[in-house]
Amino acid sequence: MAALRTTASRLNRIKSFHVMALLDRAKQLESQGLDVIHLEVGEPDFATPDNVVAAGVAALQQGKTRYTAPSGLPELRRAIAGFYRQRYGVDIDPGRVVVTPGASGAISLVTALLFNAGDGVLLADPGYPCNDNFLHLLGAEPQRVAVGPESAYQLTAAQVEQHWRGNTRGAWVASPSNPTGTLLSRDELAAIHQAVDAKGGALLVDEIYHGLTYGVDAATALALPDTRDSLFVINSFSKYFNMTGWRLGWLVAPACHVEALDRLAQNFFLAPPTAAQYAALEAFSDASIAVYEQRREILHRRRDYLLQALPALGLKIPCVPQGAFYLYCDVSAITGDSFAFCRQLLEQTGVAITPGIDFGDHQANHHVRIAYTQDLDRLALAVQRLGNFIAHYREA
Ligand SMILES: Cc1ncc(COP(=O)(O)O)c(C=O)c1O
Repeated sequence: MAALRTTASRLNRIKSFHVMALLDRAKQLESQGLDVIHLEVGEPDFATPDNVVAAGVAALQQGKTRYTAPSGLPELRRAIAGFYRQRYGVDIDPGRVVVTPGASGAISLVTALLFNAGDGVLLADPGYPCNDNFLHLLGAEPQRVAVGPESAYQLTAAQVEQHWRGNTRGAWVASPSNPTGTLLSRDELAAIHQAVDAKGGALLVDEIYHGLTYGVDAATALALPDTRDSLFVINSFSKYFNMTGWRLGWLVAPACHVEALDRLAQNFFLAPPTAAQYAALEAFSDASIAVYEQRREILHRRRDYLLQALPALGLKIPCVPQGAFYLYCDVSAITGDSFAFCRQLLEQTGVAITPGIDFGDHQANHHVRIAYTQDLDRLALAVQRLGNFIAHYREA
């Protein structure tokens, strides 16, 4: 009798992240009394502002506990469009905004909308690792292109042209990027869009770290002229709005695709979470934005502190990250095995950071990602521990 095959073969392509093993170990060490400084997790350390929480609670108390429309509350879609007008001076038809369960929900929808099995999509290596897995689920092919400090770890239009293959159907960028925190300028975005559009492909732009930029504003791809039907912008309430656990994000799509996205949303999720949507309406209030802007300043100070402290320890930061809350450090002078380095660092000092191998293949063993999601005192302690560790570090 044939053995029962319990899982689909696509599961073989979906790997868990190395940082998860480190996180498990960190929890173990913490339970044994070790003080762990968590600089590995990709979420802000700030709680959702009280007024935003109160709006979510009030919605629940008022009995707003049922499904909303699959693409989200009309008033939230309008509020998101209003945010683009206010912050970027860009007019977006609210009907083009699809509210989703996190940016992850937006990514599920847009990849399902666009890509067939066998289709290829260009992405930067290093980059956000889940993107590959969303493509694998569809049988599509992530086509990672090695990027380095010379292009601020971003894909360029020339690379898009050079690496476009027979099966390539799109390119996917993130600005600011995870893990590098680097940005694409408006001109670079426009050139990439032009290159993709000329090939008849789609451009996906992940803007989930927008709002978290320091000394500069990130350009939204939605401000590009003449993007026709080929531009999709992904965003979220997770990062700038400090709402990771509420699971709410959005997609801005060409009008002609909204009906199909709504159909997919009906089937995938039925609707985004209701209480979270009411809370999110409050996230755009002046009071909330004032809190977010104060927090942005706090992150700015933390980044500046690490930018001066880490290079002195031998962690090179070849390209100043202008956004997100990550530093992508070149540790090639110290190690050729980023996982072993992170593992030993955790074991010996209680500082948890993420190995480069979680973000791709290109020079991944020579890099680590440090998230500055702890206050300055904790960061200073982490720097002190790192310094002592590196002074005695020997590759096993
Ligand atoms: C670049 C990027 N895109 C998308 C996501 C998904 O975020 P969420 O589903 O919480 O909105 C993340 C999460 O870390 C990310 O870093």
